[in-house]
Amino acid sequence: MSKTAKLEIDGKKYEFPLITGTENEVAIDIKNLRSGTEEVITLDPGFKNTGSCESAITFLDGEKGILRYRGYSIEELAEKADFLEVAYLLIFGELPTKEQNDKFHNDIKAEAVVDEDVKKILESFPKSAHPMGVIASLTSALTAFNPSSVNVESEEDMYKAIVKIMGKFPVLVAWTLRRRQGLPLNYGSDEIGYVENILKMMFEKPNHPYEQNKILVNALDKLLILHADHEQNCSTSTVRIVGSSHAGLFASLSAGISALWGPLHGGANQAVLEMLEAIKTDGGDTKKYMAKAKDKKDPFRLMGFGHRVYKNFDPRARIIKKAADEVLGDLGIEDPILDIAKGLEKEALEDQYFVDRKLYPNVDFYSGIIYRGMGIPTDMFTVMFALGRLPGWIAQWREMRLRKEPIGRPRQLYTGATLRPFVDIDKR
Ligand code: CMC
Repeated sequence: MSKTAKLEIDGKKYEFPLITGTENEVAIDIKNLRSGTEEVITLDPGFKNTGSCESAITFLDGEKGILRYRGYSIEELAEKADFLEVAYLLIFGELPTKEQNDKFHNDIKAEAVVDEDVKKILESFPKSAHPMGVIASLTSALTAFNPSSVNVESEEDMYKAIVKIMGKFPVLVAWTLRRRQGLPLNYGSDEIGYVENILKMMFEKPNHPYEQNKILVNALDKLLILHADHEQNCSTSTVRIVGSSHAGLFASLSAGISALWGPLHGGANQAVLEMLEAIKTDGGDTKKYMAKAKDKKDPFRLMGFGHRVYKNFDPRARIIKKAADEVLGDLGIEDPILDIAKGLEKEALEDQYFVDRKLYPNVDFYSGIIYRGMGIPTDMFTVMFALGRLPGWIAQWREMRLRKEPIGRPRQLYTGATLRPFVDIDKR
């Protein structure tokens, strides 16, 4: 007999089925809670206990520090796969064959051009605009230039919209960076790898042939893979919920980018670097900042620490910390910021406040140090996160549409004024 959860409200008993996932996680299916009771709902601010969907894309176990895409461990993927293979895996469910991979890449390359008028939009932003705002706007603007990709239903049309955004998004990212730096906007080359071309588009100088640096390509490939998906986080949930209104892929992604921008989410990578810089400028006194992070009257938080789901360690942080050492070593960079980061981590891991709250370094703690070593400006870090997260958002949007999920529309518990008579303005 299948298991159930029992609920008693005012002496009335109700039963709800338990659903078990493939990794033996258990959920109470409350789809009929409101209709089967006296319109009772659940209340769960921040969705700490609420599953919004069933998903076959990413599994993570926050207690054990496990992260898997489609069943493959993040450690193995970061070591053996490239970003485009991982993107294919996330979106379509299986690692691609050589032919599938080539076709995917060719279809993306065929779409890796944006309308010249997009440049006008880009140029109308002040150079000082934050790149996340710019990239969210440009992604949304793509909707206007590609109306056939707006509200797609069939798998074939979804595929077309997917390769379009996979092709055009890196161009927008590179152009956002180049515009800030006053460099001409370029297209790189379609004769090189996806990640190689991202670097070429970002860094090629107008007066000098661009030489690929294998260390940078490998480092970026790894960083993008580590950021590629993370199940129902804030931005991904945003993409799914916006997409559930059938708003279209590009509009859903633009909303996801905005959600990612916040410092409690993807914006943390920028915030970490700014925090480490501030500590350095302040004389490198990590203890002072540890005390601030623990002081409840002080709004300061140790950026790059803590995670809603990981309560043991963030497996991505482990890989990135090692990569930071290797990449800076290979590039011959000695960055005092890395030492401050390591010092802070050591102190936090030994501090009762952080131990009690299970606060560990997260993916953003070391990623910015690598980006900085690669020559990427601090306020572009979250854009790089978005570039990595793109296939995850796409995979989640596609899954949601193919499963024909209903429009996302949470309930609320109203706590405002009850009915009262209108008061004329001269009597208020
Ligand atoms: N520094 C100091 N104290 C912290 C921190 C921190 N970074 N994070 C959590 N705490 C404390 C918090 O004050 C609370 O203490 P108490 O129980 O005494 O009130 C306790 O730990 C639980 O924190 P919470 O805010 O209830 O936990 P949450 O699951 O709602 O928040 C978080 C998770 C990631 C938003 C939070 O840990 C945080 O703000 N971290 C810093 C920002 C950051 O690095 N974000 C990137 C997350 S990973 C990448 C991504 O997903 O985008």
